[in-house]
Amino acid sequence: MSNNLLAGKRGIITGALDENSIAWKVALKAHEQGAKIVLTNAPIAMRMGEINKLAAATNAEIVPADATSVEELTNLFTKSQEILGGKMDFVLHSIGMSPNIRKNIPYTELNYDFYNKSIDISALSLHKMLSVAYKLDAMNEWGSVVALSYIAAQRTYPFYTDMADAKAVLESICRSFGYHYGKAKHVRVNSISQSPTKTTAGSGIKGFGDFYDYADNISPLGNASAESCADYCISMFSDLTRMVNMQNLYHDGGYSNTGVSMEMMEMLGKIPTE
Ligand SMILES: NC(=O)c1ccc[n+]([C@@H]2O[C@H](COP(=O)([O-])OP(=O)(O)OC[C@H]3O[C@@H](n4cnc5c(N)ncnc54)[C@H](O)[C@@H]3O)[C@@H](O)[C@H]2O)c1
Repeated sequence: MSNNLLAGKRGIITGALDENSIAWKVALKAHEQGAKIVLTNAPIAMRMGEINKLAAATNAEIVPADATSVEELTNLFTKSQEILGGKMDFVLHSIGMSPNIRKNIPYTELNYDFYNKSIDISALSLHKMLSVAYKLDAMNEWGSVVALSYIAAQRTYPFYTDMADAKAVLESICRSFGYHYGKAKHVRVNSISQSPTKTTAGSGIKGFGDFYDYADNISPLGNASAESCADYCISMFSDLTRMVNMQNLYHDGGYSNTGVSMEMMEMLGKIPTE
């Protein structure tokens, strides 16, 4: 159902890899709500060609960009303005990758070249994007930038290894840039801290399946789906949330504020103690 919440708005959506991606759902909903969008992803991620289907469904053009390259991001923001005919009203940062996680390296033994890559791809890329947009003056006043995060930025989840550090940096960049961009152009920058979600990035984490079920049992509303995360992103891009800035917003069905649930107590009670 469309309320035309984004009618007349232009935006860039990163990170749509396949139909499970959170960004994929955001793109579909942004289009449904009347926005004109440009899709982008790392050139290497486009080899599968899935993104072409999304581009066709959302009437969008694709501008490839490795989010760690300032040069490619400059091209992305320049081209997007040409294609969409003006400055951006919203940007979705939906990018995460840890070579340490991919190679199953434990936190106490991180490979530091990989660690730098994790931080660059998953966190500094947001700063680079914001900095490019700021310098090019590519965002409209009262624009909205949303980055996707995870609660491992605040609490320890051993399997999330260096991505936890990357998310902490990502959320800090939202606060810091949200101040500067807010002052200069009334552009707001926030992160949405999403439930575990069955996507390529999520499922690549060891033990993800068990953890997904754990979080689902703790949260009073259950895990938030990618679809509902997309709804939240749309509301954050809309004019209804103009005064929300520099926040980390939990979108997790209540998980972050729950100590323990009765379901978990019952499950623990069934585990034999001897
Ligand atoms: N899936 C979860 O459980 C979960 C939970 C909370 C937050 N998140 C976050 O949501 C965001 C989207 O992830 P997802 O779960 O939809 O998985 P996904 O694998 O579908 O998306 C991750 C995207 O990052 C892109 N990417 C990787 N390196 C890049 C680079 N150098 N330049 C540009 N793009 C690059 C990938 O191509 C991919 O499209 C990530 O920031 C992730 O950390 C995911």
